[in-house]
Amino acid sequence: MLSLPRLLLLSLTLFALTVSPALARERWPERDNHLLALHPRRFGQDHPAVLTKLRAACGGGVCAKLAGAAVTPLLAKSGECTQQDMADQIIDASKQFNGTTQQTMIALAIEYRQVEKNTPPDFTTKPPTLRNSVFCQTAPKNSELNGLVQAQDPANDPDVFFDPATGKSVQLGAQANTRPFGTSGNATTA
Ligand SMILES: *[C@@H]1O[C@H](CO)[C@@H](O)[C@H](O)[C@H]1NC(C)=O
Ligand SMILES: *[C@@H]1O[C@H](CO)[C@@H](O)[C@H](O)[C@H]1NC(C)=O
Repeated sequence: MLSLPRLLLLSLTLFALTVSPALARERWPERDNHLLALHPRRFGQDHPAVLTKLRAACGGGVCAKLAGAAVTPLLAKSGECTQQDMADQIIDASKQFNGTTQQTMIALAIEYRQVEKNTPPDFTTKPPTLRNSVFCQTAPKNSELNGLVQAQDPANDPDVFFDPATGKSVQLGAQANTRPFGTSGNATTA
């Protein structure tokens, strides 16, 4: 017989399958540009650990607020620079705290900037194409974030990106934002 936790897990799984099969490949379960955080523990390996650490990194409600705000930039429809802007906000906010706390917050901003951002697979192709997320094309405000970009799932098609601005697929090289800031036009740069 199924225990209660197992039943809950099963119903959550079925729920996730019914609401959004299209999002099955997404790293963070989401729907309508909101994180499906019904039972974060159930999605243990998917929930960005950096958000939990950020929440606890400083007092006065500042880090709790930052951690809450840091979810949306990771969702598929968020603009290509929102994750970098959020990382800048974390560093800006760190300035009000002592050196130790500042260091922790800067390290978390650096980690946050490099976590994977959601992309929906392209279901117009057979089989569906797993897509990369496009890159921000402006420099960060804080130099600690220079040259950092979000991770991409190695299972993605390396030549195909999802552009949240159009909701469409973009081929590598067709737009500047298919390469990290400052490297477009250079096919050989990493
Ligand atoms: C920095 O602030 C934190 C949180 O208020 C505190 O726990 C820590 O002792 C402080 N460290 C120093 C070196 O003042
Ligand atoms: C390509 O990279 C080189 C060296 O990093 C740089 O000098 C050059 O401007 C880049 N070209 C383009 C088109 O971005």
